[in-house]
Amino acid sequence: MDAITMIKERRSIRKYKNKRVDRETMREIIDICRWAPSWANFQIARYTLIDDEEKIKSLATDGVKGFTYNIKTLENAKGVAVLSFVKGKSGKLDPEKGDYATDKGNVWEAFDAGIACQTFCLAAHAKGIGTCIFGVIDEESISGIANLPEEETVAALITYGYGDENPPATPRKQVDEISRFM
Ligand SMILES: Cc1cc2nc3c(=O)[nH]c(=O)nc-3n(C[C@H](O)[C@H](O)[C@H](O)COP(=O)(O)O)c2cc1C
Repeated sequence: MDAITMIKERRSIRKYKNKRVDRETMREIIDICRWAPSWANFQIARYTLIDDEEKIKSLATDGVKGFTYNIKTLENAKGVAVLSFVKGKSGKLDPEKGDYATDKGNVWEAFDAGIACQTFCLAAHAKGIGTCIFGVIDEESISGIANLPEEETVAALITYGYGDENPPATPRKQVDEISRFM
């Protein structure tokens, strides 16, 4: 699949076939994610891949603030990636000490996580696996369920599985609405 097709044809998938994605395939996707760019190449993104049904149920019960739309997606997802990142590094010139180098402060860590998130979704799509990013999440609760180390915080959940729907393209703004030349 070429890059343009991959970017344009990825959709959020919220219905999945009753078929698990094997862990080797998920490892291949993470292997692709390693190539995402990051602030000073600090590579702060982490991926906790949950394919245990009981744990996914816990995420539905406690991890999405009761948002029924996300609960419904989790009810048929075959896997969930907890995308987290190591706190307190991106945005600094020295990851171990010092102030943040720009006016954006630590915002660059969320920026890194966003790039990692899209890379994961595109890599999965290229391998025939559907994904849906969740921003409506309970970070603290998910940290507990995923047993994240203290140094990490949750950026997003990404459900994944073999898609059982083919949603039409969601509307997009026109080129002239979102760009300007000078
Ligand atoms: C940061 C972010 C948070 C999102 N949160 C949710 C969410 O909580 N639940 C959900 O079903 N979709 C969520 N989405 C998916 C968007 O609704 C979706 O990407 C958008 O409508 C465009 O559709 P497409 O992904 O099919 O192109 C989120 C997407 C992003 C990038």
